Amino acid sequence: MRYEVDFLIIGSGIAGLSFALKVASYGKVCILTKGDASEGSTRYAQGGIAAVMYDSDSFDKHIHDTLVAGDGICDREVVEMTIREAPDRIRELVQYGVNFDLDNHGNRFDLHREGGHSEFRILHHKDNTGEEIERGLLEAVRQHPNIELKERQFAIDLITQHHLGQRVTKHTPGIECYGVYALDCDTNRIDTYIAKVTLLATGGMGNVYSTTTTPVISTGDGVAMVHRARGVLSDLEFMQFHPTSLYNPAEKPAFLITEAMRGAGAVLKGRDGKEFMQKYDKRLSLAPRDIVARAIDNEMKLSGKPYLYLDARGIGKQHLIEGFPNIYAKCLELGINITKDMIPIRPAAHYQCGGIKVDKHGESSIKHLYAAGECSCTGLHGGNRLASNSLLEAVVYAHNAAVHAIESVKNIDFNASVPDWNSDGMVLNEEMVLITQTKSELQEIMWNYVGIVRSDLRLQRAFDRLNLIFRETEDLYNRSVLTEPLSELRNLIACSYLIIKMARARRQNVGLHYSLDLLEQKER
Ligand code: FAD
Ligand code: SIN
Repeated sequence: MRYEVDFLIIGSGIAGLSFALKVASYGKVCILTKGDASEGSTRYAQGGIAAVMYDSDSFDKHIHDTLVAGDGICDREVVEMTIREAPDRIRELVQYGVNFDLDNHGNRFDLHREGGHSEFRILHHKDNTGEEIERGLLEAVRQHPNIELKERQFAIDLITQHHLGQRVTKHTPGIECYGVYALDCDTNRIDTYIAKVTLLATGGMGNVYSTTTTPVISTGDGVAMVHRARGVLSDLEFMQFHPTSLYNPAEKPAFLITEAMRGAGAVLKGRDGKEFMQKYDKRLSLAPRDIVARAIDNEMKLSGKPYLYLDARGIGKQHLIEGFPNIYAKCLELGINITKDMIPIRPAAHYQCGGIKVDKHGESSIKHLYAAGECSCTGLHGGNRLASNSLLEAVVYAHNAAVHAIESVKNIDFNASVPDWNSDGMVLNEEMVLITQTKSELQEIMWNYVGIVRSDLRLQRAFDRLNLIFRETEDLYNRSVLTEPLSELRNLIACSYLIIKMARARRQNVGLHYSLDLLEQKER
């Protein structure tokens, strides 16, 4: 089937839905999403969204905290713009129907604090903020007559001049995007979506690693598509590991214990029940995330144990049960009463700071292609994202991209010469085990060699092993009918390759990139 739409959006998380609502009055909008509409990292966000809403805080402080967390390599202009725009974007979310908790008087937002923040500035909805944002935005999208939302549609590749028979390399000037090829997961048919403007809002790539807080859909599809289309990517060595995922090895994805709990007074403790963060940073359990994750990793290695503890008992029973009801219930299910017991935790891959390089309008290096949300790299996060700045970045850049796309769409025509996908000569793939086994091998390699602490040798090992996996998978791809699992595996391999390549190129320990072969980081 062939479709023509003005605005094509890949992904139905906070970035894709926000953009859709903004452009919907200016043309026909279609959102493709590979699973159920609500599935994505957005719905699992716990802590909240950072913004300066009152005079007790200041833009300057939020800017300073973001720059410090980013370890000096954020794009300062982007940081200033994003943080100053935040209150407007928050008010819009509220207008779309999103509820944030209010304080006891009911007239101001109740604000939490998280690691790296010098003030209480995290707007939240109990400990399930993302679920509430996703609900509010999805309801608004579903009511809009110009937006079509299509579930179980897997975007495979961007359509560029390459599909018109031209040779495209990363040095080709003026690469253009004409839409995407997408697999209809119910019929196994590959459809052609021709668009004037395309937005990638495909989220993160946490599933490159064996332990991650991100849902199974986070397989770096957008980044891999741009890589294959020869677009510019950046900063992928900065993979963020959240310090505190609940230790429950059989569970995938790993359940998050929000940093807001440390903001409320919970402290990290070793297996001996003693605090250890004083050895690593004067901000103790509320130091920036990269520092805390490395400290936990080191303590785990020293003790030889697979988990440490978060002690939330000091927060008080009522505050814990009312403020963190989902975490309380989840832990209780596993026999852990967080008002009395310490919570077993370990770090887990959580967020990609880098991605598809975009300018201040969310435009990528490929013409008519925008990116927003976790798949993009705006320069806001630098070497390490400040907690709760991700949802914020997504709404700010969905807005900026929408403003720009609404203007440019007027001067773009559909490219009618785009051919349909050619799947001639392919045979059915019957060996699912080849895909699942390769995926877990890849995830273990990345976890063991390209994780929180790296070295030249570990990166070389990972690269060598990845080469073999790459060759085997390309061979499978060349003789198989394209399926979602195979496509995702190829994307995970491409993302792993990019992480390793960028990690090897970064010859300085900065932010989340830490190698035993490089110089110690300066204090910040
Ligand atoms: P997502 O919400 O991940 O959505 C991606 C969408 O793209 C999905 O709809 C998916 O189906 C679709 N998609 C992907 N590939 C394809 C494809 N090939 N074809 C079609 N569709 C595709 N950040 C904060 O700021 N504050 C927090 O409190 C916070 N808590 C978090 C807690 C957890 C457990 C996790 C995992 C992350 C958290 N983050 C938090 C990070 C934040 O939630 C995410 O960065 C953000 O939600 C990403 O939004 P997004 O719209 O970019 O992507
Ligand atoms: C958390 O709630 O700890 C996650 C916040 C984030 O990833 O920004």
